[in-house]
Amino acid sequence: MLKGILEYAHDLLAETVKSGEAVIDATCGNGNDTLFLSKLTGNEGKVIAFDIQEQAIQNTQRLLDHHNRKNVILIQDSHDNMLQYVSPADKQWLGGAIFNLGYLPKGDKTVITTPASTLAALGHILQILKPGRMVVLVVYYGHEGGMKEKEALLQYAIQLDQKQYQVLQYRYINQKNHAPFIIAIQKK
Ligand SMILES: C[S@@+](CC[C@H](N)C(=O)[O-])C[C@H]1O[C@@H](n2cnc3c(N)ncnc32)[C@H](O)[C@@H]1O
Repeated sequence: MLKGILEYAHDLLAETVKSGEAVIDATCGNGNDTLFLSKLTGNEGKVIAFDIQEQAIQNTQRLLDHHNRKNVILIQDSHDNMLQYVSPADKQWLGGAIFNLGYLPKGDKTVITTPASTLAALGHILQILKPGRMVVLVVYYGHEGGMKEKEALLQYAIQLDQKQYQVLQYRYINQKNHAPFIIAIQKK
């Protein structure tokens, strides 16, 4: 069966992230991806999760508490500031990362991810990502401002050097209403 977008995003990370590694959730929102990564990396691993909204940090903390997960560092700041919080940027230590773009479901629809900070954060992640590992972006773009971010991201992803990265777009082409799609970037 063809996989749905969120299922496939998780499958890509499940195939590449190893137990005990550190990973990043760049947009933790309601915590679903953070919880998934927390289980995937295991008690010896670590998830560093960012969101700019207090509401998102609280929702994620509540979900983690409910599942008794303790290997997550939650940071209320923009993901483009991530290098202030993580290990040195001159080393390749990151096991994987996910972005879920757009606004917080059931939250404030005016607070959205933006091209400048998304691309800056993505650049940082590519720098610290281990070879063979992946950053997966789930691109929602039906909201106001979403199209601009989608275009900027595609433009950025398309020009990545094929000698250094494999870049995949996974998208259903007969769905209406700006259905989300995946961009997955694997470092060679
Ligand atoms: C689609 S939601 C994420 C959903 C989440 N992954 C989940 O599993 O529930 C997008 C989130 O990105 C957050 N966000 C927007 N701009 C951000 C930024 N510059 N840095 C970090 N998070 C940001 C929003 O606050 C929102 O919670």
